[in-house]
Amino acid sequence: MSVKHHIAVVPGDGTGPEVVVEGIKALKAVSKKCGFECEFKEFDVGGEKYLKDGTLLPDSILDELRGRDAIFLGAIGHPDVKPGILEREVLLRMRFELDLYINLRPVELLPGVDIPLKNKGPEDINFVVVRENTEGLYAGSGGFLKKGTPEEVAVQESINTRKGVERCIRYAFDYCRKRNRKRLLTLCAKKNVLMYESDLWDRCFEEVATDYPDVTTDYQHVDACCMWMVKNPEKFDVIVTNNMFGDIITDVGAIIQGGLGIAAGGNINPGGAAMFEPIGGSAPKYTGLNKINPLGAISAAQMMLEYIGEEEAAGILLGAIKKTVANDLQSLEAGKMGYGTTEVGDLVVGYIK
Ligand code: IPM
Ligand code: MN
Repeated sequence: MSVKHHIAVVPGDGTGPEVVVEGIKALKAVSKKCGFECEFKEFDVGGEKYLKDGTLLPDSILDELRGRDAIFLGAIGHPDVKPGILEREVLLRMRFELDLYINLRPVELLPGVDIPLKNKGPEDINFVVVRENTEGLYAGSGGFLKKGTPEEVAVQESINTRKGVERCIRYAFDYCRKRNRKRLLTLCAKKNVLMYESDLWDRCFEEVATDYPDVTTDYQHVDACCMWMVKNPEKFDVIVTNNMFGDIITDVGAIIQGGLGIAAGGNINPGGAAMFEPIGGSAPKYTGLNKINPLGAISAAQMMLEYIGEEEAAGILLGAIKKTVANDLQSLEAGKMGYGTTEVGDLVVGYIK
């Protein structure tokens, strides 16, 4: 009997469902070729559901998600829902409750992709950001004093636990070793200003580094890090950073690999659950038009295959994505690809067969 992987699917909002369909199409093709099975179970979560009956992410669904081998997410975000509700109550809640403490975001420029950087090619842009995913400014600690008055005070605290910082840094060292390219791990922080949080990150980084003598370490302040990612992206191999800085620098990363059309990420608890998503968002203005690029979702599916141990299938799917980009697409941007969403999915499937 062949192996069967139990995948939870959360298509979500906007163009999420359209790109998820293409991701599943690619997964089905590659699993058939490699002789394993994926069983998909869909969950109705997101803005539409919230507007219909007021539910966000109930405990019952969280429990079911926890029990699956991996979660494949389209996008969460709806123009008719006040900003912050879906983000905090669905996306961040999933990350926090399932303790998906790593947000793994590869930045890889594939041959044939146009980018805003001059004189940089695929040999220059190939690194991975390991973003802490459950703490920092995202922890939701803080509050208002005298809200709505002229004396009001807003406090937003950055929570950094030794445990949370150390497990993220250890993951990054292990990942850097396993990736085995330059074996160079860069800590991105702001230790010239953030005298508590960056100090903890820095000390922890130095300490953990002694267990990895084969990995070279480097340090960048977050502002300089953004600059180097644009000026000399070839400097980087793996970057480890906190939640907020990771959010910011991975948008820079996305654009230097060709934009949100292709960028994907994994939210991972190495011992437990994991959720994979395109990082482009719900793109409401393209909903239902067959214009959005599904390659971000297909790349997320590719990362999911690696995570569930289907290395061969992951390799084949990556090859198919690369061929589609190099041979067929005019651009990675929605509406400018030269093909529709479903056709791009078909092209990828064509290279798998
Ligand atoms: C991301 C997104 C989220 C984040 C938002 C939607 C809460 O920007 O995944 O990078 O800030 O983490
Ligand atoms: Mn972001």
